[in-house]
Amino acid sequence: MARTIGILTAGGDSPGLNAAIRAIGKSAQRAYGMDVIGFKDGFQGLMLNRYVRLDSDALSGILTRGGTVLGTSRARVDRMELADGSVMDGRAVMREIVEQHDLEALVCLGGDGTMRNALKLQQAGIRVLAVPKTIDNDVTGTDVTFGFDTAMGIATDAIDRLHSTAHSHHRIIVVEIMGHEVGWLALGAGLAGGADVILIPEIPHDIEAVASSIQARKEAGSAFSIVAVAEGAYSRNQASSQAEILEEMEMAKGNERRRLRRILKDLQEDRSKRTPHLASSLETLTGLESRVTILGHVQRGGTPSAADRLLATRLGTACAGYIAEGIQGVMVASRGEGSDPVPLKEVAGITKFVPLDHSWLSSARRLGIALGD
Ligand code: F6P
Repeated sequence: MARTIGILTAGGDSPGLNAAIRAIGKSAQRAYGMDVIGFKDGFQGLMLNRYVRLDSDALSGILTRGGTVLGTSRARVDRMELADGSVMDGRAVMREIVEQHDLEALVCLGGDGTMRNALKLQQAGIRVLAVPKTIDNDVTGTDVTFGFDTAMGIATDAIDRLHSTAHSHHRIIVVEIMGHEVGWLALGAGLAGGADVILIPEIPHDIEAVASSIQARKEAGSAFSIVAVAEGAYSRNQASSQAEILEEMEMAKGNERRRLRRILKDLQEDRSKRTPHLASSLETLTGLESRVTILGHVQRGGTPSAADRLLATRLGTACAGYIAEGIQGVMVASRGEGSDPVPLKEVAGITKFVPLDHSWLSSARRLGIALGD
């Protein structure tokens, strides 16, 4: 009887997911004679045994499509929300379903949250492999994740377009770029698009320093500036108030601790107001009119770039090979032009921040791009 593998996609969608599903599925079928099924909507579909057969017809024509043909959701395998609003640990049920299908392996395509879920399933006795995807590029242990190149291209294109309008109106345009808690996308797109200021979470910024760099450009004859800000970026003031509250919380007990936790939550939830606040502060400090563009989910949509299709295809076919070799409990990492099976426990729960000595940061500094420090 043919061996069967299961595939699911979890977390935020990412360009290149369908290319990866196709690569895993086709190579598992053609090179190793396996059957392939796909669970719908991530771990939720696994828990409810909602699946489709991924035969060659189902895998045909999906290489260039954005999103994921399997659907996705954000869920924690040990805290699954049920239709009636209650929460349960879904691991035992998922294991039963995997046994019912007699799966040789379950392949989870996802970002850092998925790596954590995949490790939990592995520890619960399911043979799991994970393939890293995310536009944020924040998964550790791999050179890069698919989705990142496409999103960086979209954000770069947006910066290019914002340049001409900022220039014509002598304005500051603050463009907010996704990236969750890290600055890879904003830094990459900011450099590729020639932003004048790039603000990332790894470097808490001083608003006065940002304003003076814009002022200096104005005095040198460029009365416009493009500020590329990562959605997770924050100012030094915001950083120090959070640090103070965290410190106070360590000592506080009972109601006082609850009060401080509420303040901290408000500070963190205030994130959506950070970029408009940054733009209006820069307007006040420089006297230049400012506008805000929030790129949002447009960065995750549409056709994957050639580089992402290639990366997803490389990792997907390598993944099928690892399954055939009996390797499990690993993330299929990209390493140079090849791949490496890295144990899930070495990557789950670890965020890959932009290192402060990264060459992209040195390039930015040499070009005189302000980083807010
Ligand atoms: O992880 C990918 C990502 O697009 C982040 O950049 C962003 O913070 C988040 O997902 C948005 O999540 P959602 O699609 O659930 O709004």
